Amino acid sequence: MVNPYNDSKLGKKQQVAEMFNSIAPKYDFLNHWLSFGIDKLWRKKAIKLLKPLNPSVILDVATGTGDFALEAMKLSPEKIIGMDISEGMMKIASGKIADLHLDKTISFEVGDSEEMRFDSESMDAITVGFGVRNFEHLEKGLSEFHRVLRKGGVACILEFSKPKKFPIKQLYRFYSYYVLPIWGRLISKDQRAYTYLPESVSAFPDGDEFISILKNVGFDSVKEYRLTFGIATIYFAVK
Ligand SMILES: C[S@@+](CC[C@H](N)C(=O)[O-])C[C@H]1O[C@@H](n2cnc3c(N)ncnc32)[C@H](O)[C@@H]1O
Repeated sequence: MVNPYNDSKLGKKQQVAEMFNSIAPKYDFLNHWLSFGIDKLWRKKAIKLLKPLNPSVILDVATGTGDFALEAMKLSPEKIIGMDISEGMMKIASGKIADLHLDKTISFEVGDSEEMRFDSESMDAITVGFGVRNFEHLEKGLSEFHRVLRKGGVACILEFSKPKKFPIKQLYRFYSYYVLPIWGRLISKDQRAYTYLPESVSAFPDGDEFISILKNVGFDSVKEYRLTFGIATIYFAVK
């Protein structure tokens, strides 16, 4: 298992929460800058895929600073709940919805996706942006998604994947191992966060491997949409 801090005695979950608390104030800036703004297009595409489902209650797991939850407002749902284990990230997210006066529709809470407080079959859709790679127990978290979704509900999971073709594969490796950690360290002041990022992407199952995990936890059908030469993938998993 790839952990944020190699010398820490804490479990992965606590380390992940600590890391995101530490980088929270710089997270949005780094995200958009290091991805050249493409991360915004990926979230938009994911939300468009959910449109025909017309979901009324949406759970944004690992919501971080809340950008996916805010994008989901385009679906005009009754309720969006954003949940994250990092209090620092939730603080930034809460500030955004207060500024935008969206607190009637969106609420944020600190919570662990591996043990959710929600009733079974209580959600129409789940969104997760770049969250599942950070789970301590992946299958446990995905099983929880399956439990809280209603029959026919969808888990729309956006996650980094690995480009497979020359020369994007080589260029992406160079960028993520040599360029991204330098800028990430300089701006976030966290020594490990942006080294952990490519390491965790490399260790994480993508494509067919991730699809079979989703099917093993009970999802009926899973479609994948590879984005930007396979740098990211949307998994559209139907219960
Ligand atoms: C890379 S950020 C993604 C934030 C946001 N979804 C986005 O699209 O930018 C990953 C987030 O996952 C959260 N996270 C990791 N494990 C979690 C868990 N077990 N339950 C809830 N949130 C978790 C982290 O705290 C962090 O805020």
